[in-house]
Amino acid sequence: MKPISVDLLAQRLEAERKARPDGAINRMLYECLRGAIHDASLPAASRLPPSRDLAAQLGISRNTVMHAYEQLMAEGYAKGLTGSGTYVADRIPDPPSLPRAAMASTHGAPAVAARLSRRGRQVIDKALAQTRQWGAFMPGLPDITQVPQQKLAKIVARLARSQSPAMLSYAAGGGHPALHRSLAVYLRQARSVVCEPEQIVVTEGVHQAIDLITRVLGDPGDTAWVEEPGYWGTRSVLEINGIRLKPLPVDAEGMRPPPGDRPAAQAPRFAFVTPSHQYPLGAVMSMSRRLDLLAHAARDGTWVVEDDYDSEFRFAGQPIASLQGLLPNAPAAQVIYVGTFSKTLYPGLRIAYMVVPASVATAFRTAQSELYRGGHMLMQAALAEFIDSGLYAAHIRKMRLVYAARRAFLIALVQQWLGADWIHEYDTGAGLHLVLALPEGMDDVAVTEACAAQGVLVRPLSRYYLGRRRRSGLLLGFASVPQEQMLAPFEIVVRCIRQAVPA
Ligand SMILES: Cc1ncc(COP(=O)(O)O)c(C=O)c1O
Repeated sequence: MKPISVDLLAQRLEAERKARPDGAINRMLYECLRGAIHDASLPAASRLPPSRDLAAQLGISRNTVMHAYEQLMAEGYAKGLTGSGTYVADRIPDPPSLPRAAMASTHGAPAVAARLSRRGRQVIDKALAQTRQWGAFMPGLPDITQVPQQKLAKIVARLARSQSPAMLSYAAGGGHPALHRSLAVYLRQARSVVCEPEQIVVTEGVHQAIDLITRVLGDPGDTAWVEEPGYWGTRSVLEINGIRLKPLPVDAEGMRPPPGDRPAAQAPRFAFVTPSHQYPLGAVMSMSRRLDLLAHAARDGTWVVEDDYDSEFRFAGQPIASLQGLLPNAPAAQVIYVGTFSKTLYPGLRIAYMVVPASVATAFRTAQSELYRGGHMLMQAALAEFIDSGLYAAHIRKMRLVYAARRAFLIALVQQWLGADWIHEYDTGAGLHLVLALPEGMDDVAVTEACAAQGVLVRPLSRYYLGRRRRSGLLLGFASVPQEQMLAPFEIVVRCIRQAVPA
C-alpha cells in the first residue's frame, strides 16, 4: 500500500514544479522533504518512503531521490539505519532562516521562482558531489585523522606571529613564492616535472586550476578530449565554460586518441588526461600512448592537461613519472601539469597547483588575481616549510604503507566474499580507491543507493560515463578508515550486491 507521505510529497512537488518550471528537480524534492519534516508532516523518527518507491511514484530518477536523502542525512534531518532504510532524525535541526517566499514554497504555496541560467541548471542537474564526505568507503578521501596537524599548526603559529601584511593580504602572484620554490624542487624530484618556480600557479584545488585553464586558453565552443569514463568534476567545469566534450575511450593503456590526422577545424583545443592513474579505472598510460598524445598535441596545437591527482600513492613497482616530464622529447607540445594536496594531506585545505609553460605564466597569474583574488598565503608559506623540512615526504611515505595495508585488506575481502575477478581488470595497484566490476546489467546506482541507505558510501561506475556504453561497477575508497572499520560496511556492500538482480 502506498504510504500517505508519498501522496503528500507528490502534491508538494507538483506545486513546486508549477511555481518553478525551470527549477532543479533534486533541489525542489529536497526542499519539499525538508519542509515536510519541519511542519511534522513527516514526523520525527518516522520512516521515509523507500527511494525506489518514491522515485517511481513521482516519476523521477532514483538518483535524484538518493541525492535528496543524502543531503537530509548530511544536514541532520535524516539518518540511515542499517538494513532498514532512511528515517527522519529523532531531533530535527532548527529551520534555516529562509526568506518568506521560499518558506511558503516548501508548503506548496506559490513561490517567487528563482530562475536559474541554462548553464547553472546544467551543473545542478548533473551534480554528483556527495554531501557527506567521510567514512567507509568514500572514494578518493585520504585518512584525514593521520595528518600531522600539530607539526603543521606549529609552523603556522610561528609564521602568524610575524604579522607580515603579505601573509594576510591578497595573493596576487599566483601564490606564495616560497611555495613555488618548494614545489618546483619536489615536483622535479618526485614527479620528474620539468619546471622552474616561476611556472607554478597555486590554486584553490584542481577544479579552480581547470577553470582557469579553460578560461585563459579556451573559448566557448572549443572542444576538449576527455577520458571515457572520466572524472565528472572536470567535465562540469568544462561544460559550464561552454567547452564541448569529446569522450575518448580508455583501455589498459589509458586514453586512446583517434588514429590519423584531422582537419584543423576538428582539432581539439584541450586534452584532459590522468596518465599516472586513470580516474576512475586505474590504468597507467603507456609510453607509446603518451608520445602519441604529445605528437597529436604538437601537430594540432592542443593543450594537454595532466591531472596528477593521486600519483604519490602507488603500491607496487616503480613510481610512474609525469607525462609533462616527457616535454624534452616533444618540445613543440604544450602541457599543463596539475597536482593537489587534497590526497596527500586533506581536501579541506583547498590548495592545488599547476605548472604552466613560461610563455603563459604571467597571463595565468594575472587572470587568477582578476577572477578570484588569491589567498591562504599563511598556509602556503607554512606548506613550503613543511615540504622543505622533509615532513611532507615523510608523511607521504608513512601513508603509502598505511594505504597499501588497507588496500590489501579490502582486496582480500573482495577475493574472499566475491572472487578475484570482481576487481576491475585495469587496476594497477595505486591510488585511494578500488573499482569493483559488477555483473553485466546490474544497476550500480541501485546498489549505491541501497548502500547509502545503510550509511555506506560508494559510487556507481556508470555515472562516470558520458555515452551510452557503460560498465556497471562500484568505486570503493579504502584510504579513509582503518581495516577494523571496513568489515561491517563491506558486508553491507556485499548484501546490497546480492540483493540486486541483473536486468
Ligand atoms: C581525478 C581527480 N582530479 C581532481 C580531483 C579534485 O582535486 P581537488 O580536491 O584538488 O580539487 C579529484 C577528486 O577526487 C579527482 O578524482
